[in-house]
Amino acid sequence: MLHTPSTASAEAPARRMLTLGINASFHDSAAALMLDGVVVAAAEEERFTRIKHGKRPVPFTAWELPYNAIDFCLKEAGATLGDLAHVAYSFDPHHFIGERAPDQRFTLPLRPSDFERGHWENPWDPLFAAYVLNAPRQLTDGVPHHLKKRFTGVKHDKAPYRWHFVPHHLCHQASAFLASPFASCAVMTLDGRGEHASTCYGRYRDDRYEALGEVRVPHSLGLLYEQITAHLGFLHSSDEYKVMALAALGTPRYAGLLREHVQVFDDGRYEIRPLDLAQAFGPRRVSGSKMTQEQLDLAASLQEVLEDTVLQLARWLRETSGEDHLTMAGGVALNCVMNARLRDAGIFKRVWVQPAAGDAGTALGAALWVDARERRAEAAPLPGTPSLGTAATASLASQAPALAAAADAGAEVEGPLTGEKGSFSLAPRRWFMEHAYLGPAFDDDEVEALLRWAQLDYRKSENVAQDTARLLADNKVIGWFQGRMEFGPRALGARSLLASPVDPAMQARLNELKDREDFRPVAPAINREDMAEWFEPAEANDGESPFMLFVYSVKPGKTDRIPSALHTDRTARVQTVDSATNPVFHDLLAAVGRETGVPVLVNTSFNVRGEPIVGTPKAAIEAFFSTPLDALVIGSFILEKPVRRGT
Ligand SMILES: [Fe+2]
Repeated sequence: MLHTPSTASAEAPARRMLTLGINASFHDSAAALMLDGVVVAAAEEERFTRIKHGKRPVPFTAWELPYNAIDFCLKEAGATLGDLAHVAYSFDPHHFIGERAPDQRFTLPLRPSDFERGHWENPWDPLFAAYVLNAPRQLTDGVPHHLKKRFTGVKHDKAPYRWHFVPHHLCHQASAFLASPFASCAVMTLDGRGEHASTCYGRYRDDRYEALGEVRVPHSLGLLYEQITAHLGFLHSSDEYKVMALAALGTPRYAGLLREHVQVFDDGRYEIRPLDLAQAFGPRRVSGSKMTQEQLDLAASLQEVLEDTVLQLARWLRETSGEDHLTMAGGVALNCVMNARLRDAGIFKRVWVQPAAGDAGTALGAALWVDARERRAEAAPLPGTPSLGTAATASLASQAPALAAAADAGAEVEGPLTGEKGSFSLAPRRWFMEHAYLGPAFDDDEVEALLRWAQLDYRKSENVAQDTARLLADNKVIGWFQGRMEFGPRALGARSLLASPVDPAMQARLNELKDREDFRPVAPAINREDMAEWFEPAEANDGESPFMLFVYSVKPGKTDRIPSALHTDRTARVQTVDSATNPVFHDLLAAVGRETGVPVLVNTSFNVRGEPIVGTPKAAIEAFFSTPLDALVIGSFILEKPVRRGT
């Protein structure tokens, strides 16, 4: 286990090396900032702009950078753009373009129908590539007027920082192994697609990273899940978690049919053959229409095939890497049912998943990677440092044994920086992700000034945990806004809606409040020390689940006590809370336990359907007054509505 300091230590060098990570190529645009090996801040753009996922993942939006998130990160460090040493962008356009623009020119069709399939998969790929290539110009020249303060004085061609395009899956990989609590581990990343890769494997040990191979599109478990998500009438690249929830309501009777299209090889590769979904499973479901049993069974089948396939890949990775611990990232790693099967399969002793496993996490991964490489390069020059953005031929695992052997022998083996092969020296780590509270915070003075200005009725609490526990014991639904905002899609007790799980009607009430589908479960939060009494396997993963990324079973005899925290299959997506990383939430859960005898709360994200999680006190207040929430607890202040719901 790794025991690195979570803040800069006295041994830190006196210099300041600020590294900004940016994700902007697809969606979930985000920024992260590191200072000399320690993450200072990370946030998703959607929390500032109030546009869910920041933007849609289409070529026409690739130009748009997460300026608000970048501005927040710079502010948190007391820095401006000109203070940066490095900017790390989580997509490599050179790798994406490859040999497809030998004369350095792109051609765009006036109409998509004019497009002739040639070098490019999509008529708008050249537009996408041009937007990404010009991100350095866009960062300095395209900043919105109201944010100019922290961006002024920097010209893209005379920037004081170095710009790094880092391959997308390498960023996902780094967001896992450079953030996990493990000193050495295997890494598996699974998403829809990056430049070319959909799945990547690696190993991290002794401050070295070895890329062990990759699977390329069109073969992608993530894209398969997305396609079936769309066929089931949901928004792809967004609603996959709904399909996962629906899977519990079906039987996997189509799993055999799906398996015929997914072939796994014994070297970590897999292939997915095209499948006409309409022909195999009937017409695409109209969004909002009632789900048929056949559609529920398709969801269950997809989930089972995903899990079985990933287990096979994990077994190969365990053997190939020789590591006891697994880290994961990529959008597919948000599938907490799959993660639980991996945890319980015993292939690895522990499984750690990056909480921002989707593309937002690549901003963090890009910053972690460039920071670790640059600190290493400063400590000792790297022989044959790979050039950024070089294309390389596709290959899988065949180089891995030789590279691993060379690395074991202490040799410097530097491969191309594409994520598909190679071995890289990194600086010793000075940080790991103990928690996800890396976003903006607002102190009591700021909050009270807003409450007064808005002429709202509120009271200041001397013991906010105890006072809130009484409201929750009274079956009230609370908007809970405390401390720094979470990085990643899950609310983890900083921007959460909280309620008691004791009332069987609470789950339906929360779904109605959030205007979301009635099949959607809500998840329980519990203090880590109480976990073993309520859920199993409590000892797995060192007894913690801080990021709500694994499902658990409720212990026999306890299901009737927390009916609203359970899914249909009587499982629950548990978050364990630690007094060191979220003391206020920990105090609240302890107080709730004293009040009700049940130290569990249901915790769902503080947002309504179609909107991102609230990022500011103002957004929290607006959500409070536009929904049937009973109370809002924001910092030390409590706001209550005068009339209880239903009275
Ligand atoms: Fe991704």
